Amino acid sequence: MFIRNAWYIAAWAHEIGSKPLARIICNEAVVIYRDQGGRIGILEDRCCHRGTPLRFGEVVDNGLQCGYHGLVFDVDGRCVEIPRQERIPAKARVRSFPAVEKDEFIWVWMGDPAAADQGKIIDYPWHNDYKKWPHKHARYDIKGNYMLMVDNLMDLTHLGYVHRNTIGGNPKVHVEAKMQVTPTENGLHYIRWLLDSTPPPTYVKAAGFTGKVDRWQEFEYFAPGCIIQWSGALAVGRGAQVNREQEGGFQLRLFHGLTPATEDSCHYFWSTANGYRQDDPQATEQLYTEIDTAFQEDKAIVEAQQARLAETGYDGLVDIVSDSARVHMRRTVDRLIEAESKSTSGELTTA
Ligand code: FES
Ligand SMILES: [Fe+2]
Repeated sequence: MFIRNAWYIAAWAHEIGSKPLARIICNEAVVIYRDQGGRIGILEDRCCHRGTPLRFGEVVDNGLQCGYHGLVFDVDGRCVEIPRQERIPAKARVRSFPAVEKDEFIWVWMGDPAAADQGKIIDYPWHNDYKKWPHKHARYDIKGNYMLMVDNLMDLTHLGYVHRNTIGGNPKVHVEAKMQVTPTENGLHYIRWLLDSTPPPTYVKAAGFTGKVDRWQEFEYFAPGCIIQWSGALAVGRGAQVNREQEGGFQLRLFHGLTPATEDSCHYFWSTANGYRQDDPQATEQLYTEIDTAFQEDKAIVEAQQARLAETGYDGLVDIVSDSARVHMRRTVDRLIEAESKSTSGELTTA
């Protein structure tokens, strides 16, 4: 069961070009397009004439034209043209979902349109600052429930095991990291400090550290599926805990957006921004390649976990100390699902 009254990432803005893009979001087949005026439409991928998927259509002057008999739909899902027919029946429309383009994302609201408040979309200003935060984007299809990916990002003790050769480093420093979790209105914030620790291979490659570092990982989770991350390191003795904004260290920003596709699959939108050698495009490229390698490691383990849990169910799984943020995250999501089902009594699935 998914939270529907929430903003999810439907696509990267740059994915929506001149052709309609089909995607499954919260078990709904939708088609995303940009009209000639630049507005984004997210429509049910089913023409109201004969049910043909609209993804086979094309973008024309006045909207998205179905590829079967040529009906045209505007970004609100209204039929605005029927070839060789003057009168357009009022019923000729397809369901549309509220959509907003912001900070290089296309956001979608899959629940009650009347409750879609654009003010609740999180800000990610670093996507608009290529000079200070040059970055690259990616999207993976994950064969796993989106919550397993959120779990993965809430318990970073996995870094020393899954990512030993990339962004992780020694498992011991991760298990011993000081972690502080603070609940927020619809999520949580946490920061981990790995003081006086050996920098992992990615950090050494990027910043050329020769000795030990004070390293941080700061995360903010916004239910249901967004996580923003700021990580970095400074050489020991430079006072990282007092001031992290210093030259000559390593820092990156990561955005993680998990959007449910089906119960056992999701979209993983992520971006990585280089905050240490901003004038060097190769550094941005190298960082992207390193992070991509690391996230493929997460993908492999989460997909294997999903496959196993599909066979066995969740019974008998045990929480440990490092699960504190993960447990809080799961409670937040359960609370939101419960609140939503109480307030709508299930009406939203047909809204
Ligand atoms: S099915 Fe779309 S126009 Fe006929
Ligand atoms: Fe990971």
